[in-house]
Amino acid sequence: MDKFVIKGGRRLTGEVVISGAKNAAVAILPAVILSDEPCVIENVPSISDVNICLRILSEMGAEVTNIGKDTYRIDPTTINKFCVPYETARKMRASYYFLGALLGKFSKARVSMPGGCPLGDRPIDQHLKAFAAMGANYTLSQGMIDLTAEKLSGCQIFFDVVTVGATMNAMLAAVKAEGLTVIENAAKEPHIVDLANFLNSMGANIMGAGTDVIKIRGVEHLHGATYAVIPDQIEAGTFMAAVAATKGDVIIKNVIPKHLESITKKMEKIGVNIEQYDDSIHVWVDGPLVKANVKTAPHPGFPTDMQSQIATLLTLAEGTSIVTENIWEQRFRYVDELRRMGADITVNGKVALIEGTGKLMGAPVKACDLRAGAALIIAGLAASGVTEIEDIYHIERGYDCMEGKLRALGADIEKVSVPDKHSMKPDEVKKAI
Ligand code: EPZ
Repeated sequence: MDKFVIKGGRRLTGEVVISGAKNAAVAILPAVILSDEPCVIENVPSISDVNICLRILSEMGAEVTNIGKDTYRIDPTTINKFCVPYETARKMRASYYFLGALLGKFSKARVSMPGGCPLGDRPIDQHLKAFAAMGANYTLSQGMIDLTAEKLSGCQIFFDVVTVGATMNAMLAAVKAEGLTVIENAAKEPHIVDLANFLNSMGANIMGAGTDVIKIRGVEHLHGATYAVIPDQIEAGTFMAAVAATKGDVIIKNVIPKHLESITKKMEKIGVNIEQYDDSIHVWVDGPLVKANVKTAPHPGFPTDMQSQIATLLTLAEGTSIVTENIWEQRFRYVDELRRMGADITVNGKVALIEGTGKLMGAPVKACDLRAGAALIIAGLAASGVTEIEDIYHIERGYDCMEGKLRALGADIEKVSVPDKHSMKPDEVKKAI
């Protein structure tokens, strides 16, 4: 097991390049299954969730070749398996995109119930509702979802909640269905648009992605394509919060400023200076950080995936801030860890009250999910003293070489291997204590 060791108090300065978007890549890679020819996907982030997707594709029989630093050639024409094994799929949430892609291509799919960050109840009823509306039958047994369909037909789908995953999955299943599918109350995140753009580059006919009504006219054939994944808006936002927390001065490159709008607006309110260019932003702090109120919401609202990072920044601001988490039931689990570093936060249901103390102290802490881990890194960078973060595998699911990028900006952060207590012999455990 590895951990990060951070000696806090150093300003971040210089330039950082943002990687491809995790939540786009984990949908685009399964979508390659729908193509009748090989595809080349560029700007693929090197993170464990993506590595799991690539492994699933090759275990199914696709030919997956790394042809450049972040570029993969995938030939789906040799796929001969339609089941995503439990052991592999349960490690991440996005395994359910294989349901939509396999159903859309082969009219059958067998995938384990998804895993992913423990953020509370993570149902998939809207995914199943969309598949059933197109004519698919499903059964749930032994932790596996089985989907079959005689034929997939276009239909009207109205989602009861705004859901990124179900919107993506409905698009994947509908691109080759017969006739017109209309998705209403669709999610509008940048990664929804990215998936639609990739599918259209293969010859699909999708209109309205990025609005709450998406129309998909089924096509017979999808050809190969070369496509670059969009930059990761949440990685960019995470670096914005890290620069602000250390009162640094950094140029963040390979971003789409439009995708960062709600994050930028909130950061400016807190006292962060942000200058926008075509594909980069300049972030610096030259004054006090001040309190703010944050409410998470579906895009274009403030993203829930930035909630723990901005809450951490607000512990350093003057005054009392209020953070309201409207998407997930349990997305304040990082607060206990921040309290160990001296944060003064009170959580009551969906609302966290943050008393800005202006300072944090280094401590041993644990990452409990991907973005909570990112928040603890930000806290460690700003804290006085040393912070050790365990369970960093959560962080490595969604951030491409975070410690290397931070070190290049002047942070004192090291990844240290820790023998796994559970696999050590008793005398080894005694020595390690
Ligand atoms: C995606 O999760 C992201 N994951 C999450 O990012 C992100 O927090 C979330 O969207 C919201 O933006 C990936 O893209 C891999 P949802 P997803 O379906 O698709 C309810 C990260 O940190 N819902 O938009 O699982 C659900 O309970 C991760 O990168 C249903 O009720 O989220 C939630 O309250 C964490 N029924 C709300 O909708 C369903 O069938 C939004 O969920 C599906 C969802």
